[in-house]
Amino acid sequence: MKILTIIGARPQFIKAAAVSRVIQSQQHLDEILVHTGQHFDANMSAVFFDELNIPEPKYNLDISGGSHGEQTGKMLIKIEEVLLKENPDLVLVYGDTNSTLAAALAAVKLHIPLAHVEAGLRSFNKKMPEEINRILTDHSSDILFTPTAAAIKNLQNEGIDNSKILNVGDVMLDATNYYGTKAEEHSSILTDLKLTPKGYILVTVHRAENTDSLTRLKSIFDSLEKLSSDHNLVIPVHPRTMKSLKAIDFSRERSKIKFISPVGYLDMMMLEKYSKTIITDSGGVQKEAYFHKVPCVTLRDETEWTELVVNGWNFLANSDNLFESFSKAQKIKFSDVDNIYGDGDAAFKIVDKLLQYPTSI
Ligand code: UD1
Ligand code: UDP
Repeated sequence: MKILTIIGARPQFIKAAAVSRVIQSQQHLDEILVHTGQHFDANMSAVFFDELNIPEPKYNLDISGGSHGEQTGKMLIKIEEVLLKENPDLVLVYGDTNSTLAAALAAVKLHIPLAHVEAGLRSFNKKMPEEINRILTDHSSDILFTPTAAAIKNLQNEGIDNSKILNVGDVMLDATNYYGTKAEEHSSILTDLKLTPKGYILVTVHRAENTDSLTRLKSIFDSLEKLSSDHNLVIPVHPRTMKSLKAIDFSRERSKIKFISPVGYLDMMMLEKYSKTIITDSGGVQKEAYFHKVPCVTLRDETEWTELVVNGWNFLANSDNLFESFSKAQKIKFSDVDNIYGDGDAAFKIVDKLLQYPTSI
């Protein structure tokens, strides 16, 4: 069976790494990787292929930047060409980026079966570009691999047939388990940055809703700056955020916050695991905080990972109530709620299902 996997952005490299590793162990599966080029800096792309042993993409479409329509449209055109040439049995996509949507549209219009990993997540905020990408991808998909019970419910509520849905758990848990040990062995980031375990707060900010409004970005960084009077803050800066920080003339040199370039996954695992609290607007980082049992404050008005908030392990915040949420987060006690993100074998379950395709659908 010929699977064509289409990825393009940082979190997709990590998710695909977990699944591709299992695909490679299967004689009857042949995987071709297509990189759309959405993320292209070495520390946003190549580092993950190297560290996580992701096979070399057969195609790099070299499409990045531009407006949503322009980016997605250009990807759609080029992905269609690749699909016509390769004629795969199935297209595999991850998450909710523009690369995901372009791949889904190209596949569904050519009547090529489509499988979506991380299906069913909803923020119920259609102003988020990711929300549209998810909904359209889910409704184009033939196999929907969900990570959580909430995701199944969302799909059922939208009328998606149960026979298409398979709850496998979260592939990011597989990745954390597998690469977490490697991170301990190979990463020296704590020493390099002179950080003491549990002596710093890890921050990531990149979401469009926080970076595109320069006023909102400024108030977030003003609050972080205040927090840095009493705590060590470390932030690996996403290129989108770097552009916006430059636009507001934020002085990184005068700041007490430690600004660093985006880091590879192994270094990120270590930064997360040994931080005392994580402040983030990332989807992936929210869950990784939970995997490492690190309190988390999420700089958003809503989250798709509702179980984290419901169980009291994650507090939503904005720049106005960041301090209050941060204080609450210091009191978080992690109780054992079993397997809300599965058993850490999502990749095996996904590959099992693909091996049975199409007879299983
Ligand atoms: C994208 C996804 C978002 C995901 C994030 C992961 C969409 C709509 N958004 O957002 O869901 O959470 O990836 O990080 O698909 N840039 C660089 N170098 C890079 C990558 C990006 O300079 O290696 C620049 C781009 O040129 C662009 C900006 O950063 O100007 C934003 O990149 P883009 O891929 O459009 O969106 P992200 O914010 O990364
Ligand atoms: N990540 C990383 N290096 C960084 C920042 C994030 O390896 O400098 C990893 C992080 O551990 C997680 C994933 O990238 O696995 C999350 O990606 P991102 O926050 O860009 O996107 P989102 O999950 O919000 O879509």
